[in-house]
Amino acid sequence: MIIAVDGPTASGKGTLAKALAAHFGLPFLDTGLLYRAVGRQVQLHQGNADNPADALAGCGFPDSLLDDPILRSEDIGGLASRVSVHPMVRTALNKRQVDFANQPGGALLDGRDIGTVIAPQADVKLFITAPAEIRARRRHAEMHRHGMDVTFTDIFADIQARDVRDMARADAPLKPAEDALLLDTGDLTIGDAVQAAIALVESRLCKS
Ligand code: C5P
Repeated sequence: MIIAVDGPTASGKGTLAKALAAHFGLPFLDTGLLYRAVGRQVQLHQGNADNPADALAGCGFPDSLLDDPILRSEDIGGLASRVSVHPMVRTALNKRQVDFANQPGGALLDGRDIGTVIAPQADVKLFITAPAEIRARRRHAEMHRHGMDVTFTDIFADIQARDVRDMARADAPLKPAEDALLLDTGDLTIGDAVQAAIALVESRLCKS
């Protein structure tokens, strides 16, 4: 069984994807981490994330970079969003994700284009959303917990800029697959969102 989980930043998709993978016993790939590693590699080599050649060179990142906690920072998220616009970068990262999705026994992947490009044949596709202001509040609270000194206004602006870039790019834009099930986590606790996501997956599996 393949489960595709897509959605914008801070929608709760990462948390839900991990919980679903554990619940259904599936190996899990956070595909955003691959784009973050490319962004970080470009930064380490003093490259320009908007330059396609620099971004492509960043795809040669060592696997050890995927364990670096700096990849989780908002700065690297912004760089990831910029390198992910380049079609050559998406192509370079494609095989790794497709192979992961097609492994025997199935898999769960989360990202922006899993249900539309990486695994359009997925048994279940979820698209997780929440209003931008709520997502910015969550991200702001999370950063404060980690001792980071950032304003809500800056985070809100970053999230809106990232949404626009991810949805407007020509190649593999962020959008729900036609047969995706939508889940808005805006008014839900984490526990309720997990239960709702499990119920959606089960409802789709019952129908197939
Ligand atoms: O999910 P995460 O916030 O870690 O992703 C960082 C960035 O990587 C996203 O804003 C998006 O631009 C890009 N990305 C993508 N396709 C994916 C996963 C992430 O373009 N499948």
